[in-house]
Amino acid sequence: MKTISICFVCLGNICRSPTAEGVMRHQVEAARLSDRVRIDSAGTGDWHIGAAPDRRAQQAAGQRGYDLSALRGRQIAPEDFEQFDLLIAMDDANVTALKTICPPAQRDRIRLLMEFAPATDIREVADPYFGGDAGFERVLDQCEAACRGLIAALRPQLTS
Ligand code: 4NP
Repeated sequence: MKTISICFVCLGNICRSPTAEGVMRHQVEAARLSDRVRIDSAGTGDWHIGAAPDRRAQQAAGQRGYDLSALRGRQIAPEDFEQFDLLIAMDDANVTALKTICPPAQRDRIRLLMEFAPATDIREVADPYFGGDAGFERVLDQCEAACRGLIAALRPQLTS
């Protein structure tokens, strides 16, 4: 049985990438693909290793039915490029940081999340950490749209 492993990546691993992980987990379960898709998240920075997601991210996600409370921050490592088929970054700075530690043969595993949300030309998921609550809602909107597109893009690989 084919499986695919995905790691969502942002800067701190306490706002955007845990949100993407929670949304993706939910949608993958709804699509009955949980045994086919492995999902994780990580940060390019090391400030929040071991920390739970930001309280505001947890609250906004919880209101939409996503429970992020069990997630803990970790930092991406070169070994992750062997563990994961896709490393899906939130913004261009994340992509740049990933490229600096990525083995050359695995560079095509790095993608931007919003590539999978074709109905918008917004390229990045903006960092909500230093802003207000609206930023967290926008992250959720973007993650929901992009994860739907990501699952649609993966389906042919999972069912072939
Ligand atoms: P994230 O947000 O990358 O979406 O987890 C941030 C969280 C923390 C910091 C920056 C961004 N920080 O500077 O500590």
